Amino acid sequence: MTESHASLAALRRIVGDSHLLTDPSLRAGYEVDWTRRFGGPALAVARPADVEELAGVVKVCAEAGVAIVPQGGNTGLVGGGVPRNGELVVSLARLRDVEPVDGLAGEALAGAGVTLAALQQHVRAAGWEFGVDLGARDSATIGGMVATNAGGLHLLRYGGMRAQVIGLEAVLADGSVVRRLSGLAKDNTGYDLAGLLTGSEGTLGIVTRARLRLVPPLPGRSVALVGLPNTAAAVSLVARLRRAPWLLAAELFFPDGLELVARHSGARPPLAGPHGAYLLVEAAAERDPTDEMAAALQEESSVVLASDPAGRRRLWELRERHTEAIGAQGIAHKLDIGVPVARLAEFVERVQETVSRTDPTARTILYGHIADGNLHVNVLGPAADDERVDDEVLELVIQMAGTVSAEHGVGVAKRRWFAADRGAADLAAMRAVKDALDPRGILNPGVLFEPS
Ligand code: FAD
Ligand code: MLT
Ligand code: ZN
Repeated sequence: MTESHASLAALRRIVGDSHLLTDPSLRAGYEVDWTRRFGGPALAVARPADVEELAGVVKVCAEAGVAIVPQGGNTGLVGGGVPRNGELVVSLARLRDVEPVDGLAGEALAGAGVTLAALQQHVRAAGWEFGVDLGARDSATIGGMVATNAGGLHLLRYGGMRAQVIGLEAVLADGSVVRRLSGLAKDNTGYDLAGLLTGSEGTLGIVTRARLRLVPPLPGRSVALVGLPNTAAAVSLVARLRRAPWLLAAELFFPDGLELVARHSGARPPLAGPHGAYLLVEAAAERDPTDEMAAALQEESSVVLASDPAGRRRLWELRERHTEAIGAQGIAHKLDIGVPVARLAEFVERVQETVSRTDPTARTILYGHIADGNLHVNVLGPAADDERVDDEVLELVIQMAGTVSAEHGVGVAKRRWFAADRGAADLAAMRAVKDALDPRGILNPGVLFEPS
């Protein structure tokens, strides 16, 4: 029996025959990512039922030197949750327990495999809301969102995933379990392991449960779509709205993206054009904030407002459906970048020139979380493995004091630019942490760092 056959037999004993998938047709959905740009063959897919089974799986892998790729909802966009070269995929999808909401503390305890939509439903039923929201809510899991430190649509108000995490349970590379879940809002005993694991993209530990901060619900909602001449006008308007107590979201997109979404979904763009840029704004308050938002936008010449749920959803879909509309055109190069807000308008101009200069046939579609300086640069045209456009755009981002990954993570997609972005000293410190916690390099090799 070869070593990997012996490992598979040991894994099968832990998770049971029906939760160790070796058949290629059963593995297939776990072996390619959402973008269709990344993926490869897996040794097998293991689906442990709980933290004990997971710890057993990791111990077997640690002893045999089998590499592991943790996977949640597989909605990640940087290739970090899919195998590259015969690793074991460990799916957390079965860790779906949620405990009753702790209304005294305003906290929820959820398993890593709970989807964002399921968590939202659970906490809403108890009169609370969760502070992070994103378009992949039906599939993205709490474990994946912790691992990527997901940002999303409400970051300007509540912060990203790291700001919501109060405590974590996780399995480390030797199979040991770290756990701090009792819900201590203040806890200054030593290193912040939960903070370290958040955003570590499955390279330091496998998250099994998270204790999460909740926020009060704001049932009064209103959404506006504003047509503007250009990005600079959108940035100025957001600067003014940022002071409003009701601002929940501010999202930017452009006519080419809107046209693509309209064609893809059959929706009719609600504003008569032409406009150089569109700003979608959501207001949230205890009572209906429509009047306040309308007053704040009264000087704008092209605005549509919706307060009813169906109208609000229709406006949101014009923004949220960009990802799928672009995906339907082909395999996009998805560059999730951040620049200082003051330089956003300059970036929008320079990135178009940069892409056209590098590949005159490429199409560039931009949208994103304007208040956070986070734009999604989607380039259609270049072959999936042709990285010339990626190189030029990310070089521009670094020149402009930006980040090559604002919210999706580094994964394998941005690994080549990680050092240029963070610098040698940061990289060495991170490498030292990785080597200390995972000396054999079995957790997600190839993500963040070159595999050793
Ligand atoms: P996966 O894709 O399964 O994994 C992502 C990474 O986390 C991988 O490196 C994986 O190894 C690791 N991982 C997964 N689970 C665990 C675990 N339990 N323990 C340790 N490591 C783990 N992202 C945003 O930040 N903001 C957005 O607004 C946003 N919108 C999106 C909209 C669409 C339509 C899509 C398709 C994606 C969007 N994303 C967004 C990206 C994606 O949804 C997030 O990165 C999300 O956090 C990934 O969760 P997941 O469960 O799908 O993780
Ligand atoms: C979004 O904001 O829509 C997401 O991060 C997904 C994407 O980049 O397409
Ligand atoms: Zn985003």
